[in-house]
Amino acid sequence: MLRASPSSTIEAWGALGASHAVTTADPAAVDHLLRASFANYNRGAQFRAAQSDLIGDGLFGADGRLWSLQRKLASYAFSSRSLRRFTEDVLTVHLGRRFLPFLDAAAGSGEAVDLQEALRRFAFDNICHVAFGVESSTLLEWGDPRHQALFAAFDTAVEISFMRTLNAPTPVRKLTKLLNIGQSRRLREAVGVIDDHAMSVIEAKGVSQRNSRDEGDPDLLSRFMAAMDEEDGGGDLAAMFPTPEARRRFLRDVVVSFVLAGKDTTTSALTWFFWLLAANPRCEQRVHDEVSRSPDGNVKGMHYLHAAITEAMRLYPPVPFNGRIAVADDVLPDGTVVRAGWFANYSAYAMGRMEKLWGENFMEFAPERWLGDSGEFAPVDAARYPVFHAGPRACLGKEMAYMQMKTVASAVLRRVRLNVGGTG
Ligand code: HEM
Repeated sequence: MLRASPSSTIEAWGALGASHAVTTADPAAVDHLLRASFANYNRGAQFRAAQSDLIGDGLFGADGRLWSLQRKLASYAFSSRSLRRFTEDVLTVHLGRRFLPFLDAAAGSGEAVDLQEALRRFAFDNICHVAFGVESSTLLEWGDPRHQALFAAFDTAVEISFMRTLNAPTPVRKLTKLLNIGQSRRLREAVGVIDDHAMSVIEAKGVSQRNSRDEGDPDLLSRFMAAMDEEDGGGDLAAMFPTPEARRRFLRDVVVSFVLAGKDTTTSALTWFFWLLAANPRCEQRVHDEVSRSPDGNVKGMHYLHAAITEAMRLYPPVPFNGRIAVADDVLPDGTVVRAGWFANYSAYAMGRMEKLWGENFMEFAPERWLGDSGEFAPVDAARYPVFHAGPRACLGKEMAYMQMKTVASAVLRRVRLNVGGTG
């Protein structure tokens, strides 16, 4: 529908006018929503209510001061120093000692593996290590039912919460919550499993902090714990959580938010990347040539690989659809009116598939479209390619995500040939 719309913007109404949404695939409108009129578009009460069981007061659902204080604190953990540590320590451990041996074992046995699930477990172990300083090995403990239960709980909770974001609460939902039946019960049980995991991460962190005198760069969870520290009197963020229980609960929200940010995004992107390479042997060869030219595995100068991953996310963005709520009446650059309380959405998926943005070959996987004459990667404005969002709430983990995806892709392609969907 967005492709067919001359303005690349459409409007939709819910039954009996229950909701109203403007959805766009126009870069000028995206620029307006995410940058120029940032202050007028927030998460809104419906999103917060729908997601409150899962992410509570975590960064992703927060607005205003609760968001800006968390954003500032979290941004230190994504500095270039932290990024270096990420590549050196975390990727080396999880890639070299876990993911690659896992693939070697699969190659040796000739058995098919679920690459998406393996990448998901790798990403999960990575994020727990880098953000919380807690080592887990869900990849090597493949059959452990506790890990299976945790991943299933995340899937259930995300799915139910997402559907609730789209639909305003009804009396039936309130009743099922009260009676603890149906979806409300499934959500409560899933969140219970997630809570137990998050609390165990926080406990483990507390123990390791008491037992070590690590003077190094603190990780993300350490920064949030310090900000909540009662003995220090806490800062502005701590003042928002006055009791010890509220502060513990908030730390739980931090852990869950970052697991959600890091677990499925790079997994989705890499899974499609490997899929697309398998379907495009010419591109696979070019990536292979580039990777083979760099014996030390340094991914910084791998422009074609960077382009190929970016191109995979153009066609299959990990966050395909995103939205905000208008605070006050507004008008988009093309004249579309957005009233206070309406949804204002953009679709990165639709935008990646518009001829007017990418030319005649918009449906082709063509990494070359991202390369300049000298073969260097040439980025485009985030409002045209909002895969990592844009403006003040743009993705904080983008550099880390590219580092992770490029390192994994180059190490895998140097070592094995993936036979996607094949049997041997
Ligand atoms: C291919 C990988 C990734 C993609 C495509 C991606 C995409 C996005 C998108 C679309 C948003 C905006 C969400 C919104 O506000 O509605 C976002 C925000 C964010 N991302 Fe990522 N992300 C990726 C990986 C990561 C990783 C690995 C991390 C770190 C662990 C991360 C951390 C964040 C954070 C902290 C924000 C919140 C920004 C805020 O609300 O101020 N992302 N990301």
